[in-house]
Amino acid sequence: MFSFSVAFDPNRGIGINGVLPWHIREELQLFKKNTLHKNIVMGQTTYDRLPGKLKDRNIFVVSWDDEYHPENVAVIRDLMEFIEQHKDDETEYIICGGASIYTQAYPYCQKGYVSIMKDEYEVDAYLDCFEKNDWNIIEEAEYEKFIYYLLERKRNGID
Ligand SMILES: NC(=O)c1ccc[n+]([C@@H]2O[C@H](COP(=O)([O-])OP(=O)(O)OC[C@H]3O[C@@H](n4cnc5c(N)ncnc54)[C@H](OP(=O)(O)O)[C@@H]3O)[C@@H](O)[C@H]2O)c1
Repeated sequence: MFSFSVAFDPNRGIGINGVLPWHIREELQLFKKNTLHKNIVMGQTTYDRLPGKLKDRNIFVVSWDDEYHPENVAVIRDLMEFIEQHKDDETEYIICGGASIYTQAYPYCQKGYVSIMKDEYEVDAYLDCFEKNDWNIIEEAEYEKFIYYLLERKRNGID
């Protein structure tokens, strides 16, 4: 099963110069809580620019580069093949960006951990794929700088 974790601003901005546009402790704590001891999937740009190590998570990095072998992570050379192989697993794989990885994986995500910032930021990377009508809100919590939502994909057809 695939899910995704993202934080975006009112203009759908998610990144600037390869890093996050904001530094919000509560949002980072939520990310940690939601991803700890789980499988997380992220693009090479996002992984290489992380400010610190992500401990106690099973990390998969998406890269075309055959020479790319970072320590202690698994490398995904073909994201769509990986999704096809794991989309029906009971195990959760959380897509953690960046922009290009969200776009490719979004149609397969059944759950979302989403923080929407209240302020606008300077950004150069966007979440183009997100449609709020695709989702039911399961949980909602307001913080000083953002609102957090736990989302579940709406089912098609008759339940
Ligand atoms: N706000 C948030 O929640 C959040 C979360 C994560 C990241 N971000 C931000 O997003 C920005 C980075 O996004 P990005 O789109 O530039 O980079 P990215 O998605 O992290 O990584 C892109 C890399 O993955 C490769 N790639 C893409 N699709 C692939 C596939 N199907 N198979 C193999 N390799 C593939 C790309 O190669 P090619 O370029 O050759 O296609 C490129 O090297 C940063 O600013 C980061 O901080 C924000």
